[in-house]
Amino acid sequence: MAWKRAFPVDLAEEGRFSRREFARFLALVSAGFTAGLGWLWLRKTPLEGPPSTAGSGPISLGLAADLKPGQSRLFTFRGPQDRCILLRTPLGELRAYRQACTHLGCAVRFRNDELQCPCHEGVFEVEHGFPIQGPPTRPLSRVALEVRADGTLWAVGDLPAPAGFASRARAACPRQARREEVA
Ligand code: FES
Repeated sequence: MAWKRAFPVDLAEEGRFSRREFARFLALVSAGFTAGLGWLWLRKTPLEGPPSTAGSGPISLGLAADLKPGQSRLFTFRGPQDRCILLRTPLGELRAYRQACTHLGCAVRFRNDELQCPCHEGVFEVEHGFPIQGPPTRPLSRVALEVRADGTLWAVGDLPAPAGFASRARAACPRQARREEVA
């Protein structure tokens, strides 16, 4: 046939080559998948040091005066998976929130006087935990705090979701915006 003369391909050799390439492709995809899962797992773990011990009732968080404005500390509350973040706002108020982002559950961090989620660049303000940027639409879950007469700070329960939160106009997720620019 004319096309075989024009394109002299050894089909047996071509098959061996394809199988090798396919095996290499599968190995690369598996390695990428494993690396991706590892990255997601790392991003979900708290990034600000080991948490303090968990408790079923009120738990002590140390001396309230030890935490200066702009500082934060991690602790676990209802169980080892109930990771929370204690912080002192720039105005000097103490706040505690669950670390789980209300978008897909990554651990938020206290940076630049706001709570930032590294997964999709969600941001929450620190006074009430309201989302102010990115995909999250619900406030962070807040932990009730109590300062006792001896100056110790205690996590004592769960606060209800703040009233009056209406989904406000927020900047879109920067990563999504970049994807849309490229598309
Ligand atoms: S998980 Fe936090 S912004 Fe998506």
